[in-house]
Amino acid sequence: MARSVVEVSKNELHDVRITESESAPLEDGQVRLVIDSFGITANNITYAVFGEMMAYWNFFPAPSGEGSGVVPVWGFATVGESRNAGIAEGERIYGYLPMANELVVQPSRVSPGSFFDASPHRAELAAAYNNYTRCAGDPGYDPDGEDARMLLQPLFFTSYLIDDFLADADFFGATQVIATSASSKTGFGTAHLLNKRDGIDVIGLTSASNVPFVEELGIYDQVVSYDELHSLPDGQTVLIDFAGNQNVVRAVHERYGDDLKHSAVIGGTHWDADRPEPAPMPGAKPEFFFAPTRIQVRAKDWGMAELQRKLGVEWAEFVPRAAEWLTVEHVSGLDKAVEVYAAVLGGSASPSVAQVIQL
Ligand SMILES: NC(=O)c1ccc[n+]([C@@H]2O[C@H](COP(=O)([O-])OP(=O)(O)OC[C@H]3O[C@@H](n4cnc5c(N)ncnc54)[C@H](OP(=O)(O)O)[C@@H]3O)[C@@H](O)[C@H]2O)c1
Repeated sequence: MARSVVEVSKNELHDVRITESESAPLEDGQVRLVIDSFGITANNITYAVFGEMMAYWNFFPAPSGEGSGVVPVWGFATVGESRNAGIAEGERIYGYLPMANELVVQPSRVSPGSFFDASPHRAELAAAYNNYTRCAGDPGYDPDGEDARMLLQPLFFTSYLIDDFLADADFFGATQVIATSASSKTGFGTAHLLNKRDGIDVIGLTSASNVPFVEELGIYDQVVSYDELHSLPDGQTVLIDFAGNQNVVRAVHERYGDDLKHSAVIGGTHWDADRPEPAPMPGAKPEFFFAPTRIQVRAKDWGMAELQRKLGVEWAEFVPRAAEWLTVEHVSGLDKAVEVYAAVLGGSASPSVAQVIQL
């Protein structure tokens, strides 16, 4: 089998190409996953933007070497070849995959519902990304729900963790939450959950062109465009920043000063915005929120099974609502993956359309 991989230049994310090479023969214990489908959203762009800092490039080393990177995606695969007694050929698998047509993994800690990839180069990386679901042993697996699973579930898991983190901290005494990139899937997943809480208003910040989409969601108490920040309401506030646009973050900090009770750094959808030199800002010091770290906290508090159960209850409620808000488009082949990647990178993708790549 030939291996096809979408590679990007680590220091020029617009420079993207498909490389072809011979598939490597499997070693004992290894399994070859043949990749069937995956989603691409701004979250995948953030994996690339923070590729060096957060070690996202280390999951799937690029065939062309150090200067190139492979952007991770969430998707489904079939076991095409197995030299591991615990994993059968033909099995359906869900998890963290490269933008490519195959991935060789070394399953360990195999249970009926999952395994971990014990490939040595992944040993130091966050466990949440090294865990693969064996669909046949997963009670939550629904063949008709694959689109939602790969496009939304990793993002909604983060939304769930943010909502839980803020509620657990009594919203740091605030009465309103401001979310940047309110049109993003992680953003509106969080707003959907926050909207169910008493005593908290949720204000969405978004681009002027995305205001109608965000308003129609009906889950934000107020929607404000980035060029109308003066209309933000007074009050003790938490900022959850999905955009990473330092000019917007600074403006919100200066608007609220000591009334800004917590400032959570979550993402960088506006990855190509100006990056001014960091300088002190009024209000709470920005703190990075990393979903895998919060998973560890709640897995310790509640146990992983209980965390999954609680998430599952919210997920079941969210999926039909998200289906009203999003249209899923299917495109075929890695060439199309390159096009979708470029559109998401360039910010020209519509927030109401999500793309699944099928191979
Ligand atoms: N910390 C964590 O653990 C964690 C986990 C999951 C996700 N996240 C982060 O959450 C963020 C949202 O991810 P998502 O996949 O949910 O996003 P998404 O749905 O693809 O977001 C699309 C929105 O992002 C903004 N955007 C995207 N590309 C842009 C560009 N080039 N220029 C300007 N705006 C752009 C636009 O929103 P606006 O017009 O509304 O700004 C756009 O409507 C990502 O940065 C992701 O990394 C973080």
